[in-house]
Amino acid sequence: MTPPLRIALIGAGNMGQQHYRHLKTLSEAVLCAVADPGPQAAALAAQWGVAHYSEHRPMLEQVRPDAVIVANPNNQHVGTALDCLAAGVPVLLEKPVGVDLDEVRELVAAVKRSGVPVLVGHHRRHNPLIVRARELLRNGALGRLTTVTALFQLRKPDRYFEIPWRREPGAGMLLTNLIHDLDLLRHLCGEVHSVQAISANTVRGFANADSVAVLLQFADGALGTLTGSDAVAAPWSWELAAGENPAYPQQAEQPCYLLAGTAGALSIPQLKHWHYAADQLDAGWHEPLLAQQQACTAGDALRLQLEHFLQVVRGEVEPLVSAEDAARTLALVEAIGAAAASGRACTPVSVEG
Ligand SMILES: NC(=O)c1ccc[n+]([C@@H]2O[C@H](COP(=O)([O-])OP(=O)(O)OC[C@H]3O[C@@H](n4cnc5c(N)ncnc54)[C@H](O)[C@@H]3O)[C@@H](O)[C@H]2O)c1
Repeated sequence: MTPPLRIALIGAGNMGQQHYRHLKTLSEAVLCAVADPGPQAAALAAQWGVAHYSEHRPMLEQVRPDAVIVANPNNQHVGTALDCLAAGVPVLLEKPVGVDLDEVRELVAAVKRSGVPVLVGHHRRHNPLIVRARELLRNGALGRLTTVTALFQLRKPDRYFEIPWRREPGAGMLLTNLIHDLDLLRHLCGEVHSVQAISANTVRGFANADSVAVLLQFADGALGTLTGSDAVAAPWSWELAAGENPAYPQQAEQPCYLLAGTAGALSIPQLKHWHYAADQLDAGWHEPLLAQQQACTAGDALRLQLEHFLQVVRGEVEPLVSAEDAARTLALVEAIGAAAASGRACTPVSVEG
């Protein structure tokens, strides 16, 4: 029998601990070390029975893990991932892939040069709900995709912002949360050609926006909106609707993405598919619109992502979200930031430079 892959964790905060929760239940992998300078990290490593390092470089040298999970603050992602690639170690890198496209280009080049894979943690793509939604779109269930409505509206409690880096440039709702929605919109609806946006920070007054309204023009012609705020007492977001994370009481009835095409419409995460009867040619608003619940077996996206990562490490599959793919999502985030700052329509810049 092949021995389990030895996985090190760099960054054992909230997200690192969630990865560990799944890792410890998988037979094909085992945690081998923790690198984190934080005050609780040594105790956590002792509790998990592995070596603790304050720095990831000595850990890479001494432990020589088969792969690493990187869940440290956003502005350290690229530097950490580059060190792992230099050591020949495949990486599951939390999102965002980096904090600006210039540094991420360096990472994309290093992946190409080294041939060592990076999987970026846009875990929602692994959720069976999204797999099914994408299948429906690909199979033409909506006809020509025409309009896209995306909602990220919830309230983060004030205590969330007590961790300093979450208030600073390099964090913020756009880079921390909307990047997930934008990544899914790209995954489901294709590339975005241009965006317009307005944003405000008037509720909290931090450097980062707490509310944003975005117009999206997709390359295939569909038009979309994304309305986001992390400062409103509202239920419309993937976080609250999809039930992925038990830490957030679920609002299962509330959609967060509404996709509409010439032949049908789909609400996500409900996977309710609206369409007219097949024998009704040229049906319209006078005819009954049928709503069909699409079947989908539930699955934990973070766990599925980790299982996929192990396949990537073993060389069995290509990463579902490569550094280059995630860089395109980051380019979209940057275009929205630029559009909000300038008041002009912006096109995401090419990752190739
Ligand atoms: N995929 C998701 O849905 C999701 C959700 C939340 C956070 N995240 C991402 O995960 C990452 C971590 O977020 P979090 O909420 O766990 O933050 P956190 O503050 O809870 O944890 C960050 C950890 O990194 C540690 N750290 C700081 N500097 C380090 C270094 N040089 N080397 C190693 N560790 C270091 C800190 O001590 C802390 O334990 C962020 O990039 C965030 O965007 C992803």
